[in-house]
Amino acid sequence: MNLPQVIADTPLAENITELLEGKVEILPWDTSIDAEGVSVEGIYTYGHCHVDGSLMDRCSGLKVISNYGVGVDHVDLEAARERGIPVGNTPDVLNGATADMAMALLLAASRRLIEGDTFARSSGFTHYDPGYMLGREAHSSTIGIIGLGRIGLQIARRAVGFEMTILYHNRNPRSDLPAELNARYVALNELLEQSDYVVLSCPLTEETQQLIGERELELMKPTATLVNVARGGVVDTDALTTALQQKSIYHAALDVTDPEPLPRDHPLLLQANVTIVPHLGSATEQTRQQMAEISVENLLLGLAGEPLAQRVV
Ligand code: DGY
Repeated sequence: MNLPQVIADTPLAENITELLEGKVEILPWDTSIDAEGVSVEGIYTYGHCHVDGSLMDRCSGLKVISNYGVGVDHVDLEAARERGIPVGNTPDVLNGATADMAMALLLAASRRLIEGDTFARSSGFTHYDPGYMLGREAHSSTIGIIGLGRIGLQIARRAVGFEMTILYHNRNPRSDLPAELNARYVALNELLEQSDYVVLSCPLTEETQQLIGERELELMKPTATLVNVARGGVVDTDALTTALQQKSIYHAALDVTDPEPLPRDHPLLLQANVTIVPHLGSATEQTRQQMAEISVENLLLGLAGEPLAQRVV
């Protein structure tokens, strides 16, 4: 029996390959999809590879695009909509893990965790000195969340435990927030001026592209930290590098960058006031398993012409 052909940016994680075993034929991304005998019915995006209208048109039998992850900024949604191709993603299951990462980055930056780890392992650590490596308080500080969506809400819940004052900025204020969050909607400028921790958890869209640039960084307190668990493109990397070099903000704690990865000789990587991890927001075994299951379910449902379990378009 011929299995439906699906292009994917291989190699895929083992659990995904297992879930797809015997159900689809996975073709590598660089397959010559115009060749005879190839009729691609599905596109599976694993690592944010770009999908545009021309790729959709070249997949002669395209029925579905399934993305492993919630963010679909690498897929041209308008082109998919115009062509009637459903696009699936994996929301909700990763809210907790990504919010945990935001708090981990916030704490690592404020309490100088990476620097402390390096020093504790070094020969320089000869005695305890109460005066070294003083950080900044996380508890009882003000957190400003840009993008209080599903992930942002989980960040706010964690911030309550740290007795933080919670500010947020969205396109519109939310009327459905739990009262115990005591989260106050403010304009972007006010959030930037008042927050000790500015946390980015918004999707990357035309509106949020380079939302944080020179002007916005200047509005932040010199003692403030920028945490980015959204997308690198929400921040102007050059402006951030300059701000950190000039110490006009305290620290940047980044799960994502633009470009990603940064060139190995990028000046941002030389800054001591940067904590950086390689896009690990949802990277727990449990969450990634759930993401695998939902993305495969979306793919198989789309191939069968059924409504997707989680559909963006
Ligand atoms: C997401 O879910 O968008 C993460 O960035 C992983 O792709």
